[in-house]
Amino acid sequence: MPTPRIEALERRHRSLLKGFRNQEASLVEYLRRFALRHAEKDLLSRTYLAIDEKEGVERIAGYFSLATVSVEHASVEEIPALSKLPRFPVPGVLLARLAVDERVQGQGLGRYLFEEALGLALELATSGPVAFRLFVTDAINEGAVQFYERFGLARLSDALPARMVLDIKPLLGEPGR
Ligand SMILES: CC(C)(COP(=O)(O)OP(=O)(O)OC[C@H]1O[C@@H](n2cnc3c(N)ncnc32)[C@H](O)[C@@H]1OP(=O)(O)O)[C@@H](O)C(=O)NCCC(=O)NCCS
Repeated sequence: MPTPRIEALERRHRSLLKGFRNQEASLVEYLRRFALRHAEKDLLSRTYLAIDEKEGVERIAGYFSLATVSVEHASVEEIPALSKLPRFPVPGVLLARLAVDERVQGQGLGRYLFEEALGLALELATSGPVAFRLFVTDAINEGAVQFYERFGLARLSDALPARMVLDIKPLLGEPGR
C-alpha cells in the first residue's frame, strides 16, 4: 500500500473514527470512544493515525497509542542486560494500542506503524528531557506476540495479555552510555 500520512489524533479527525474496522472489538472501541478523550482531556495517552487517501476520501488505515509505563524489576531479571540494574521499577514508553484496519492487513502497515512508534520513543530518549530504558507493549493474543517477537521484544509472561519489552539502550547508538 502507498505510505500513509501519520497524524496525531485531534478533534478534526472525529468524523473518520467510525470508519475504522478491526477484528478486535476493544481496539475499535478504544479508537471510537476513548482515544481522543485520553489525548486531549485526561492526558493518559496520545494516539497517532495512519491516514490513507483515495480519490479525495480519507480513511484511517491504522493507529497506535503511546503512554508511559513502569515495569517491576523482578519481571525483567531474566534479561541479562537488565538484570544488573538497581532494584527499582524500570521506566518505559508503552505502546498501549496498535491496530491496522482489517481491509488492509498483511501489506506492511503494522510494521510501518510499529517502526514509527518506536522511532518516536527513540527520538524522546535521544532528545534528553526524560530517561527511560524500555519500549513496552501488552500483546493481546498469540498472533500479536509473534508479531512483536519479529521486532525483538521479549515476552515476560505466559498469560495473555502478555507483557513484552525491548531494551532501547542498544538502539541509541551512543557508546559509553
Ligand atoms: C497485528 C497487526 C497490527 C499486524 O498488522 P499488519 O499490517 O497485518 O502486519 P504487517 O503486514 O506489517 O506484517 C509485519 C510482519 O508481521 C507478521 N504478522 C502480522 N500479523 C501477524 C500475526 N497475527 N501473527 C503472526 N505474524 C504476524 C507478518 O507476517 C509480517 O512478517 P514479515 O515481515 O516477516 O513478512 C494487525 O493484524 C492487527 O491489527 N491485528 C488485530 C489487532 C492486534 O492483534 N493488535 C496487536 C496489538 S496487541
